[in-house]
Amino acid sequence: MFTKQHIAQFSGKETPFYFYDIDLLKKTLAAVKKAAPKEYHIHYALKANSNIKILELIREAGFGADCVSGNEVKRAHQCGFKPNDIVFAGVGKSDAEINFALEKDIFCFNVESKAELTVINELAASKNKRARVALRINPNVDAHTHKYITTGLEENKFGINPYEFDDVLALLKQLPNIELIGLHFHIGSQIGSLTPFKNLCQRVNEINHWFIEKGYLLPNINVGGGLGINYHQPDSESVVDFEAFFNVFKQFLELKPTQQVHFELDRAFVGQCGNLISKVLYIKNGLTTNFAILDANMTELIRPALYQAYHKIENISNASEPSIKYDVVGPICESSDCFGKAVLLAETKRGDLIAIRSAGAYGEVMASHYNLRTDPNVVYSDELK
Ligand code: LLP
Repeated sequence: MFTKQHIAQFSGKETPFYFYDIDLLKKTLAAVKKAAPKEYHIHYALKANSNIKILELIREAGFGADCVSGNEVKRAHQCGFKPNDIVFAGVGKSDAEINFALEKDIFCFNVESKAELTVINELAASKNKRARVALRINPNVDAHTHKYITTGLEENKFGINPYEFDDVLALLKQLPNIELIGLHFHIGSQIGSLTPFKNLCQRVNEINHWFIEKGYLLPNINVGGGLGINYHQPDSESVVDFEAFFNVFKQFLELKPTQQVHFELDRAFVGQCGNLISKVLYIKNGLTTNFAILDANMTELIRPALYQAYHKIENISNASEPSIKYDVVGPICESSDCFGKAVLLAETKRGDLIAIRSAGAYGEVMASHYNLRTDPNVVYSDELK
């Protein structure tokens, strides 16, 4: 995807930087809109990328916002998302965060425990408000993804378990400042097959049925996010097959006509439009391994170190066929600071530009200041001259 023109446009830009392909983002957003039935409510989860320009494009395209911190609620608000389009999830919301969201009158809190229900009730009462709440349910459905990003199993810290439902309903009767408006589910992220979503639908049907039998026909059913992207083929599969994804829900989710469906998609929106562009500082040839040492490191993109995640790596300065294997590493004094082992690249030398692909989700937002590194720079395709 990188052309000679890109290389010329990148010259003089301080590396490392995140490069966002705005055309691809717009194409992806258009694909979601085309594939999703009109009546689906789709919230973009800010946690994958809360870059203001990207958020504004997502908001302009008509999507809502899913936040997991008070600062994300603030950011969504600043970027023009309407309070009625903002949901707030998270297993440990602080009083200050809850108060802020109550003041902004957001659409809904996704609540993860009985203790949290009690606290939200108290804080809402002190403001003379009623907080709209969806119960985040732990459905015990395996997402078959990396264990760090599996969230819907009983062993995970998230959500309310079915054995607590009776207690929750009894508790809600004593909480006049809570208005129960829905059920929320999210089983994990980077889910590579549609089967877990089908299994989720079946669990949602059972759980929804249980609540209806108890007299709670709740107007909102939020099935979360989790749709994975193809990290191995970012060019041939630059836009996810949203149609196949939504078809699973159309086919298997059995809701009552008054119930609205909500999603919280994230990686599938922004994953492929971002690339981390870095410069080769040194080549170091060992007895068995060649190292390409970059000026980017795990503080700009932690996914390979944290989840052993694969990102495609390309030498965009040398268009010849990849022929030499390199361990592509950063300068941090940890062996985990490695973007890829034995990566086949075109012959690589000092000063070459290296693209680490599919870094638009959970890249820039997870940057840290370890080793006193500064925030990564950002370059947008539509601002290149
Ligand atoms: N809704 C909830 C409640 C979530 O916890 C998440 C992601 C999403 C929606 C969006 O999921 P997505 O559509 O992006 O799969 N840092 C990790 C991923 C963490 C995911 C956290 N929750 C990574 O780099 O893979």
